[in-house]
Amino acid sequence: MAKEKTVYTCSECGGTTPRWLGKCPHCNAWNTLVEGVAESASMSKNRFAALAKTAEVAVLADIEATEVARTPTGMDELDRVLGGGMVEGGVVLIGGDPGIGKSTLLLQALDAIERSSQGVGEGTGQRQGAGGHTLYVTGEESGAQVALRSRRLGLERSQVKVLAEIELDKILATLSATKPAIAVIDSIQTVYSGELTSAPGSVAQVRECAAHLTRAAKSSGTTIVLVGHVTKEGALAGPRVLEHMVDTVLYFEGDTHSQFRLVRAIKNRFGAVNEIGVFAMTERGLKGVSNPSAIFLSQHSEPVPGSCVMVTLEGTRPLLVEIQALVDSGGPSPRRLSVGLDRDRLAMLLAVLHRHAGVACMDQDVFVNAVGGVRISEPAADLAVLLSITSSLRGKPLPKGFFAFGEVGLAGEVRPAPRGQERLREAAKLGFSVAVVPKANAPKQAIEGLTIHAVERVEQAMDVVRGLG
Ligand code: TYD
Ligand code: MG
Repeated sequence: MAKEKTVYTCSECGGTTPRWLGKCPHCNAWNTLVEGVAESASMSKNRFAALAKTAEVAVLADIEATEVARTPTGMDELDRVLGGGMVEGGVVLIGGDPGIGKSTLLLQALDAIERSSQGVGEGTGQRQGAGGHTLYVTGEESGAQVALRSRRLGLERSQVKVLAEIELDKILATLSATKPAIAVIDSIQTVYSGELTSAPGSVAQVRECAAHLTRAAKSSGTTIVLVGHVTKEGALAGPRVLEHMVDTVLYFEGDTHSQFRLVRAIKNRFGAVNEIGVFAMTERGLKGVSNPSAIFLSQHSEPVPGSCVMVTLEGTRPLLVEIQALVDSGGPSPRRLSVGLDRDRLAMLLAVLHRHAGVACMDQDVFVNAVGGVRISEPAADLAVLLSITSSLRGKPLPKGFFAFGEVGLAGEVRPAPRGQERLREAAKLGFSVAVVPKANAPKQAIEGLTIHAVERVEQAMDVVRGLG
């Protein structure tokens, strides 16, 4: 037997080098290269064998555009992020912190699918097959533990098939023997292939196993859902390599201490991205929250300094989120920390605040937080961040019923946020009464119960707020 060749694989980006190095030459991360065995030629050939067979070249217009068949999961919020349901042969990666509810959600979804497939009078376009509809492969918990969870969820008579297995070959054999419509692999980090010597959860294993499972999904039409854990850095372990292999990437967000969870689509070949599903964790599992706009507001009876509400648009739904800031005298090198918001953007906003509005935080620690564990990536949060910072600095609360949104540029200009009218209307519906918004977002017709101050510049926004109280 030929001597096995050693390669070093980066645990961050999955890049390989023939020698050990302190720094990964591909992504420049330090200390991430781990030793592994190079794949043999036959294995890599194997990997490509299952990609598209050579086919004849066809004119695009002549190719029939068939709609994909979807199986609704029966959980509306999950279907919303998936773009209508699970797609035949599709591979979904669902990531999130440990304990956030991945296993719970998927077990509930499988049970719901199992129940609807046994019911009568299904809608059109849904897949129907006899028996063997769902398979839950658990590598993290024993069958008994899964059963315990299902009892807790009130699914006493669940018909979901469970396989406690971590060996890839056995999982693949079971998939081809039972031909489920939907299979969940919980989690991809526990699955291992005997062909590789590296440990389960290593980049090489995760990539290899996911590749095999993806191929099985495409060739059999089974929908495969891969559960993946997120590392401290926020990426799936073994990670980015998986995101491009799968059709849909969903992430769980939210604070494990709070009741609410968001499931966000980061990538979706079969639907819109940046759509979110909102769930509440109850003692009987996850329940969809169909009207989530007010869940990220903390309940202050009177306004407090350092708090400003904004309206963010998540997918198609506006959400009101409270932004909190604490500005406090810091040491020689003051800290800037943000939770749920971009830290670089915070530094930029502080510079704009100083330069254009003359508010200095140079010797202050600045902390900002989006309440409830949501992550806000849109720049429309800028104005609320600045207003909460100045409110904390002055120790003066913003008026009751106040909110703001708008992007702030380096020149101190306030830029419009997309779909401003919807944001304004949602806030008005929830009883908010005063707003500072970008001029271009000011409505042509007054919105009942809402006083709107349209601004073009940061300093103008500060003046308006000072005038309000
Ligand atoms: P779990 O689905 O095991 O998380 P993951 O698979 O993402 O690691 O979620 C477990 C958490 O949810 C655990 O902390 C207990 C809680 N939980 C409930 O609050 N209610 C329930 O009905 C269940 C099943 C779990
Ligand atoms: Mg789990």
